[in-house]
Amino acid sequence: MFTLLIDFGTPAYDEVVKLRDDILRKPLGLAFTPEYLAAEHDMFHLACYTDKHELIGCLILAPQENNDIKMRQVAVHEDCQGKGIGQFMVADSERIAKEKGFTKMTLHARDTAVPFYLKLKYKKKGRAFKEVGIKHYKMEKEL
Ligand SMILES: CC(C)(COP(=O)(O)OP(=O)(O)OC[C@H]1O[C@@H](n2cnc3c(N)ncnc32)[C@H](O)[C@@H]1OP(=O)(O)O)[C@@H](O)C(=O)NCCC(=O)NCCS
Repeated sequence: MFTLLIDFGTPAYDEVVKLRDDILRKPLGLAFTPEYLAAEHDMFHLACYTDKHELIGCLILAPQENNDIKMRQVAVHEDCQGKGIGQFMVADSERIAKEKGFTKMTLHARDTAVPFYLKLKYKKKGRAFKEVGIKHYKMEKEL
């Protein structure tokens, strides 16, 4: 497998949005709005492919203030979860973020994904809160 930074608004981006919709939105009975997606034009979009160029995972890196960068919308294809793809994408994102001069990765983890991020050495910050109707925790890691 390999990762690529893909450009906003391209066919590759559209394919990633469909994967995000299938994994992160439809199960919650939600959908992306054009306004929500338009706000992503200046973020980094990472896609992960098999050697046969099939899309298997994706995430977004959104620059914040103070050299922080926020990891968003981490999704692995349903048939491919638990095979190390998420871990591979996060490690690659940390390398990319570091190369771009960011010093801290932040994220909002779904309660169900907290053990995944703890394994990758992210620390929980503060109390649980609700986002898209489900319990989340703020987590972060120094790069
Ligand atoms: C959460 C998600 C991104 C993890 O990616 P993945 O490819 O399935 O995870 P990996 O196979 O890379 O797992 C890495 C390690 O974390 C562990 N792990 C992964 N998900 C876990 C979970 N939900 N609970 C406990 N441990 C978990 C794995 O067992 C593995 O540990 P190991 O190295 O000891 O075997 C993926 O399962 C997914 O897309 N889930 C649905 C959407 C979602 O919840 N996204 C996150 C939103 S914050």
